[in-house]
Amino acid sequence: MRTQCNPSRFISNSMQKVPPSGIRKFFDMASGSEDVISLGVGEPDYVTPWHIREACIHSIEHGETSYTSNYGLMELREEISRSYVKRHGVYYDPEEEILVTTGVSEALDLAIRAITNPGDEIIVVQPSYVAYVPSVIFAGGVPVTIGARGENDFKITAAEIEAAITNKTKAVIINYPNNPTGATIGKDELEAIADVIVEHDIMMISDDVYERLTYEGTHTCFSALEGMRDRTIMLNGFSKAYSMTGFRMAYAMAAPEIINSMMLIHQYSMLCAPITAQVGAIEALRNGEEEVGKMVREYDRRRKLIVGGLNDLGLDCFNPRGAFYAFPSIKSTGLTSDEFAERLLHEQNVVTIPGDIFGDTGAGYLRCAYAASREDIKEALDRIGTFVDGL
Ligand SMILES: Cc1ncc(COP(=O)(O)O)c(C=O)c1O
Repeated sequence: MRTQCNPSRFISNSMQKVPPSGIRKFFDMASGSEDVISLGVGEPDYVTPWHIREACIHSIEHGETSYTSNYGLMELREEISRSYVKRHGVYYDPEEEILVTTGVSEALDLAIRAITNPGDEIIVVQPSYVAYVPSVIFAGGVPVTIGARGENDFKITAAEIEAAITNKTKAVIINYPNNPTGATIGKDELEAIADVIVEHDIMMISDDVYERLTYEGTHTCFSALEGMRDRTIMLNGFSKAYSMTGFRMAYAMAAPEIINSMMLIHQYSMLCAPITAQVGAIEALRNGEEEVGKMVREYDRRRKLIVGGLNDLGLDCFNPRGAFYAFPSIKSTGLTSDEFAERLLHEQNVVTIPGDIFGDTGAGYLRCAYAASREDIKEALDRIGTFVDGL
């Protein structure tokens, strides 16, 4: 008789180091309940603009159903290149410095794998998107987390980055406007960080997926800073600004050597991004400005509504200048982030995400996504008020 197989014996060591996402727990708790208002998901509540969907439909009607170049359609890479020249004055060669990927999620994985040797340290600035630390672990690297602090409006300083650098450090990952805090960071502060990156001869991975959702001030593109173009792997995509999460469309831009290594992994694991979604992305870049403008203006109204509302309830909330997240402190209630979010869900049917899921300095905060209608935001604020009053 053959012996029974124990599948868990085959799981790799690196997989065993990765905990499940803490966000999932809250979705699981909320699923099945009625009358739930969700400030949980980090996803636009808009359907993709019609002209983008229509371009995809036409493309299928015309029989565009094949693979594309591993790098992505040249037409799309040219549009991406033009958009960066126009917005930030930085040029990437569409031939060899741009790779079209299936979401920033894939671009992030490729970027880290392309530069990481086993044991290399990658500094992750937290509170941060939950995929950064696992992506470093999957690549055999060592994530070194450092915390941006609420007292500094969740901006990391050059000195804080420098203090974490060792002779094993390969790169730093930053994300502004930030998920989960909505924080942005100014040009001067980024320039100081750029000096540290050069001095220690390391790279920057900059996740700019929320770039277009900047409501106050202007977004500084890290690779546009002097001397930073070839030291930066720039990640950006269509999910948030164009409300195209389901299309899985994004891109990475970097020096040819880096893009070539990322492309090799992509070539063997993904081959290419889906052609239909690439056609949609071309349409988004060519004709999407008006719709982006409309969505951004509406998010801005919601931002003011929720931040003002939370402050009125005594939940101190700094002014997030980008993305679609408010990150109020709940320290005055005496509850932990987890207790607050769990009780708010059970007692008032409002989904929020505890801040410490995104890193230690998020403890005592709550992520409230305002990619929800103004009516829902008002109702959520009423319910949060009732909850806080009853504590
Ligand atoms: C900071 C950040 N980076 C990347 C992603 C993933 O984006 P994509 O849909 O392009 O994979 C998200 C999604 O929430 C995010 O918040």
